[in-house]
Amino acid sequence: MSLILAIESSCDETSVAILKDEKELLANVVSTQIAFHQKYGGVIPELASRLHIEKITVVINEALEQAKITMDDITHIAVTRGPGLIGALHVGLQAAKTLALIYNKPLIGVHHLAGHIYANKYVTEFRYPLLALIVSGGNTELVYMKDELDFQIIGRTLDDAIGEAYDKVARLLDLGYPGGPIIDKLAKEGNPIYNFPHPKVEGKYNFSYSGVKTSVLNMLQRLKNNNQSYEVKDIACSFQKDAVAQLIDKTLLALKEYDVKQVIVAGGVSANSYLREEMKKNVPSKIELVIPPLWATTDNAAMIAKAAVAYINKGLICNLEMGVDPNWELEDCTKNNK
Ligand code: KG4
Repeated sequence: MSLILAIESSCDETSVAILKDEKELLANVVSTQIAFHQKYGGVIPELASRLHIEKITVVINEALEQAKITMDDITHIAVTRGPGLIGALHVGLQAAKTLALIYNKPLIGVHHLAGHIYANKYVTEFRYPLLALIVSGGNTELVYMKDELDFQIIGRTLDDAIGEAYDKVARLLDLGYPGGPIIDKLAKEGNPIYNFPHPKVEGKYNFSYSGVKTSVLNMLQRLKNNNQSYEVKDIACSFQKDAVAQLIDKTLLALKEYDVKQVIVAGGVSANSYLREEMKKNVPSKIELVIPPLWATTDNAAMIAKAAVAYINKGLICNLEMGVDPNWELEDCTKNNK
């Protein structure tokens, strides 16, 4: 029997999960800091670290209570070691190392984005080769996977991540933080009546989102200067249509070159209802489209536990000297792990 205790603290969620026998999720406690960062319009790294310190033991105990087990029952301890905010990562890693040392358990350092991808294993098993589209506040990447933990990044954003663009556009429109869910909801009531210039992006499968944000800003200024009235919902809807179109276009282009069995969507922005619809409409029916349940889209430790299973199966156990890696590349996720 295996009982993995997983810890995630890379950004603004303190989360602990317990996974039994690779499949049965006994607990997935998520304590979000969103309310604390909201007034600043974004995550403040130092504040995030302090809040993780306050919460980490509470969340660990809550997960053990929910799972009705004790630390002695745990067989492995998994933790996000990167990428993410350095201070925030440290809190999770130090907690994991301390538990591993005291209870003499094997420690596994898991890549955060591998976690986002592996969250989809709560939906179905993976069939390789597959193509994963990672869309979050910090990442926009197209990843080709030939096997377990075997990642090849074929495209990535050259500037802002798509989630960042949602958050920045929401700020421009005075909508609040995080912007993604607010724009998602508002866009449903609007019409895509505005056209933004399409960015020229170097690299076949790369993305660019800083231009979209500037285009929205220019559009708002033009409308205001000309005393033209406008509806925020129409701007939100037009921005979203453009932002998602880039994802769909590049995914479909990649599917022409890469013969895959599954397309997987992962990360915070995969919660977006329009993106989900567009993926369903556009991914050819012969390819299985896998979309995570809403609970698994934002940061959580259940996804880290699922990815940890693949690490354990490859024998990738770390020693207690392991440090965090805030810039850990996905392609190196099985290296520097000891
Ligand atoms: O994966 P995540 O929780 O954190 C990172 O690791 O980055 O993603 C957070 C991002 C934020 O930018 C947030 O605005 C965006 O995901 N997001 C959404 C939606 N829900 C969250 N973006 C668009 N539509 C949504 N429904």
